[in-house]
Amino acid sequence: RPQSPVVVLGAGGVGKSALTGNNGRPALNANQLYKPFAAIIVRFIQDIFVENYDPTIEEEYRRSISVDGTLTSLEVLDTAGLEQFTSLNEVYIKAGKGFILVFSLTQEASLKEVDHLRKQIIRIKGEAGAIPIVVVGTKLDLVNEREVHRNTIQALASRWKLPFYETSSKRNWHISDVFEDLVRQMRAR
Ligand code: GTP
Ligand code: MG
Repeated sequence: RPQSPVVVLGAGGVGKSALTGNNGRPALNANQLYKPFAAIIVRFIQDIFVENYDPTIEEEYRRSISVDGTLTSLEVLDTAGLEQFTSLNEVYIKAGKGFILVFSLTQEASLKEVDHLRKQIIRIKGEAGAIPIVVVGTKLDLVNEREVHRNTIQALASRWKLPFYETSSKRNWHISDVFEDLVRQMRAR
């Protein structure tokens, strides 16, 4: 397990893995047993989009990213959103140096999970202002399925005092903004 990872948390199926990466393994077809990728992660690491949904248990990725002219090596821990696995969240939060809290713009309930995770992080880490966190709404491309209004999340994010991005791993919209913001926050600590 990485020493100071960025931990990606959020409800099941919201697109955490799609954002991050597939560890360099080829994407296998849906019927194959071993298919450990996830969409937001794959987009960030490999710059490709993963169409098939495959629940994550735990995956770790590494990538270098240039922010403001300086190269930073990021360790990204992709976690499980499915309830069977979320008992591990406490362990991840203790280990995490930065957090990406992911919800789907097409699923109102997943936004409540972000608030829950945010509170859990504060409870475990203490003082919210000192923890690098970015809130991410995914699936921006699914315009007709959208459930969470921009105003809703903007109001919440400003109440939480957290930066917020709307992304699409499918279209590669605003993915790098998320990781750059987090790197800047982590450098400022
Ligand atoms: P768990 O590992 O179970 O917690 O799920 P996850 O949050 O990692 O979700 P994952 O990245 O596996 O994505 C779930 C499904 O949503 C997949 O079918 C993805 O292709 C799809 N998906 C993810 N991001 C996007 C997006 O930006 N746009 C669209 N249209 N689909 C997306
Ligand atoms: Mg996943």
